[in-house]
Amino acid sequence: MFEEKAECNNLSDLLSQLTGAIEQYQRFEHPDAMSTVDSWKAALSGSVPSTGIGAEQVIGEIGQHVMPNGSQIAKPGCTSYITTAATDMGSIATLAGIVASPQRIGMTAFNHLEGVALNWLAEMFDLPTGMQGVFSSGGSTANLIGLGAARQSAFEQVGLDPANDGVQRACKVYATEHSHHTVHRAVAVLGMGRNAMVHVPVDNMMRLSPTALKGLLLEDKKSDALPVAIVANAGSTNTGSIDPLQEIGEIAREHNIWFHVDGAYGLPGTLDPQVHDLYKGLALADSITVDAHKWLGAPVGVGATFVRDVQAQYKTFNQGEAAYIETTTVQNEHVENSMDAIGFPYHDLGVELSAPARGAIVWALIREIGVEGVKARICRHNGMARRVADLVKSEPNLELALEPTLSVCCFRYVHENVSDLNELNKKIHRQLMKNGVNIPSTTMVDSKLVIRPCFLGARTDWHHADDLVNEVLEIGRELISQEK
Ligand SMILES: Cc1ncc(COP(=O)(O)O)c(C=O)c1O
Repeated sequence: MFEEKAECNNLSDLLSQLTGAIEQYQRFEHPDAMSTVDSWKAALSGSVPSTGIGAEQVIGEIGQHVMPNGSQIAKPGCTSYITTAATDMGSIATLAGIVASPQRIGMTAFNHLEGVALNWLAEMFDLPTGMQGVFSSGGSTANLIGLGAARQSAFEQVGLDPANDGVQRACKVYATEHSHHTVHRAVAVLGMGRNAMVHVPVDNMMRLSPTALKGLLLEDKKSDALPVAIVANAGSTNTGSIDPLQEIGEIAREHNIWFHVDGAYGLPGTLDPQVHDLYKGLALADSITVDAHKWLGAPVGVGATFVRDVQAQYKTFNQGEAAYIETTTVQNEHVENSMDAIGFPYHDLGVELSAPARGAIVWALIREIGVEGVKARICRHNGMARRVADLVKSEPNLELALEPTLSVCCFRYVHENVSDLNELNKKIHRQLMKNGVNIPSTTMVDSKLVIRPCFLGARTDWHHADDLVNEVLEIGRELISQEK
């Protein structure tokens, strides 16, 4: 019987048992989980056990069946989604928080580091001064928080209070079709409905057209709907495009509409001198998001929102009083014990009360490599996308869909004998997945199915750009020769 033992295991001993499995996984040579799906599913299924097997046995099962059949996304050659493996420091700092910070509240080093890390992000990315930051679980929630504050601000301007009375007017939120679908969901969750989204046309670089935006805003003045926010991409998921932030910000100011910038993926791009100027308009933003679990190498579950009008944010998200908290802590009195006060009340600025210690993770990541280290990573990855573009342009059987702005490069294989190039590129991508070394995603650009690497992982290095292009060429040639 092991039910009592959970309290007295020795964590460091248990961790050392897992070392082998971690080392094995981090060689990134594991076959895809589907290759042995029947065996690990059999080992990991069954009904709820009435007696436990004890920690050592569980760790044995994690090492034998779980970790070896984990994700391909951690592989350095995997460039498909805008998440990646945590750096080792990200994993270690997460563990420290799990062990020593069961809550982010209290006058603890962890609560303090939330603030330090938010300030460091704001300083590193040159965000407008005076914005209040809050960590959340990632871009989805970060967008929700920014747009929640936007909703409050817009409604208050017409004498309404959606936080207390609900959404009583039809709304409009302006963004391009390249805005992340979590923006649409946030608008829906905030009660404005997905139909509130207005898609602003884009130019040939997939950037929001300011002229089109102005036209839509003028046209919409005739309607009763309340313009709540204009959402710009600082690095779109599909192509890495950056909307013209300065022009959009000026339009937003002119029309007195909240300006939200989704930088979940691309905000760190501002550190690359080659694209830094594209971020100038950030100074006009009312809310800005960035995900540490993307380019910064944090484990999944770490995003941040920065908001100019903290009152609007507070009115939307404050959780109200709870006797068990208010009577346990002091407000303005002398704090002698870390439990006397709740520390900075981040829980009033987002949707979580209990939350992991995300600040400590971001603090540790930046402390480890400094701004210079982050900048080197960003510049390397953007450079890799440009390198892919150069290689593509030098190959007659490859075609560039779009000049890269950040670390995404969209291209496809072409051949004069093939009429359905979308089908051909789909097959190439399938084979890349099967080979399991260079694993980009695909996307659609101007109705063309293209190969889309997004270079992001801390372990992803220059040779991965060349390796991917060479493998696409090899597979393409092979498929063409089979068709003859
Ligand atoms: C631009 C952008 N915004 C928001 C999100 C959603 O972020 P998350 O998956 O962390 O919720 C993503 C995810 O890739 C993204 O690229």
